[in-house]
Amino acid sequence: MSGGSGTRLWPASRGHCPKQFLPLVNETTMIQDTAARLAGLGSLAEPLVICNESHRFLVAEQFRAEGYKPSGIILEPAGRNTAPAVALAALHAVKDGNDPLLLVLAADHVIQDHEIFHRAVDQARLAAVAGGLVTFGIVPAHPETGYGYIKAGEGEVSREVKAFVEKPDRATAQSYLDAGCYFWNSGMFLFRASVYLEELQKFQPEVLNACRQALASEHPDLDFIRLDEEAFKQSPDISIDYAVMEKTDRAVMVPLDAGWSDVGSWSSLWDVSPKDAAGNVCRGDVLTHEVSDSYLSSTDRLVAAVGVDSLVVVETADALLVAAKDRVQDVKAIVSQLKQQQ
Ligand code: GDD
Ligand code: MG
Repeated sequence: MSGGSGTRLWPASRGHCPKQFLPLVNETTMIQDTAARLAGLGSLAEPLVICNESHRFLVAEQFRAEGYKPSGIILEPAGRNTAPAVALAALHAVKDGNDPLLLVLAADHVIQDHEIFHRAVDQARLAAVAGGLVTFGIVPAHPETGYGYIKAGEGEVSREVKAFVEKPDRATAQSYLDAGCYFWNSGMFLFRASVYLEELQKFQPEVLNACRQALASEHPDLDFIRLDEEAFKQSPDISIDYAVMEKTDRAVMVPLDAGWSDVGSWSSLWDVSPKDAAGNVCRGDVLTHEVSDSYLSSTDRLVAAVGVDSLVVVETADALLVAAKDRVQDVKAIVSQLKQQQ
C-alpha cells in the first residue's frame, strides 16, 4: 500500500513525492526497503503495488532501479484509504479462481530485524490458512493516539484479539498502556484474499461493490492496472482498521518485536536513525558545535547549528523547517496552512 501523503514529514515529504519514495533512513527509499525485506521469505509471489496513478512512474522506476519486479501496479484515480486499496488487491488476486494469502504491508515502515519479521510472518501463515485475519502486534511504548490498539487474549504464538480499537483518545490510550495486555496494530496484515472480501461484504459492502466495478474494466498497460475512475470514486473513504478490523471476530494477533516503526514524524525518524556520540542525526551537508539529540538534514545548502538541543532542522531547495523535537506532530498544522493558501 503506497497511498499515504506523509504530511508530518514536510518539507521532505510532498504530494508529488511522499515519504515512501524518499531515502529517509538509509540510501534506499522506504518502498525499496519494503520490497527488500521480503527477500528470503518463502512461497511469495512478486509484490503487487497499490498506489495513486500520479505516482506510477516513481513506483516503476524505484522498483526497476533495485532490480525488483512488481507482479502489477494498481493505479487508484483518487485516494479512498486502505479498505478499498486492500479490496482491489484481493479482488485482483482472486480473479483467476485463485485464493492466495495476502501479506499486506505499508510502503513506509521501518523494520530493523528482517529475520524476526520473517519468523512472525511464517507463524502468521498458520492462522491465516485457518481463516484468520492476522495483524502483527507491537508492544506499545507510549500512549500514541495515531495507532490502532489490540487487546490480546491467550495464546502462545498467535493470540486471540479480544478488542481492536482504532486511534483512541489520549486518556483511553494511557489506560490501555496501564492495563498491559494491549498491543499497537502495526498496520500489516496476513489473510486469505477471500476471507477479507467476505468480511468486507459483511461490514462495508459499498466499498466492495465500488472496487468490483472499478476493476471490471481493468485494463493492463505494461505493469499498470487501470481502474474505472467513476466507479472507484463511489467507494467510501475508510481504512481497513475501521471498516474490518474493529468489527470482525476473525482477527488474530501475532506479536512482532523486530524494531518496527511507522516513521510518521521527524522524531520517530530520529528514533530509528543512527546517531553520533551527542545523539544527533546529521544527513547531508551539516556542521554542529555543542548540539545534542537533534535531527539535522540538508539537501541543498550547508546547515550549521550551535548550542541547541532536541531540535529538528530540515532544509530543502524551497523550504526550511525548524521545530522543537517534541512538537513535530504539529508539522501537519503548517501543511494545513499551506493548503489554505493555495
Ligand atoms: N494505495 C493506497 N491508497 N494506500 C494507502 C491509502 C490509499 O488511499 N491510504 C493510506 N495508504 C497506505 C499508506 O501509504 C501507508 O503505507 C498505509 O497505507 C497506512 O496508511 P496510514 O494513513 O499511514 O495509516 P495510519 O498510520 O493513520 O494508521 C494505520 O497504521 C498504524 C501503524 O502505522 C492503522 O493501521 C493503525 O491501526 C496502525 O496502528
Ligand atoms: Mg501511517
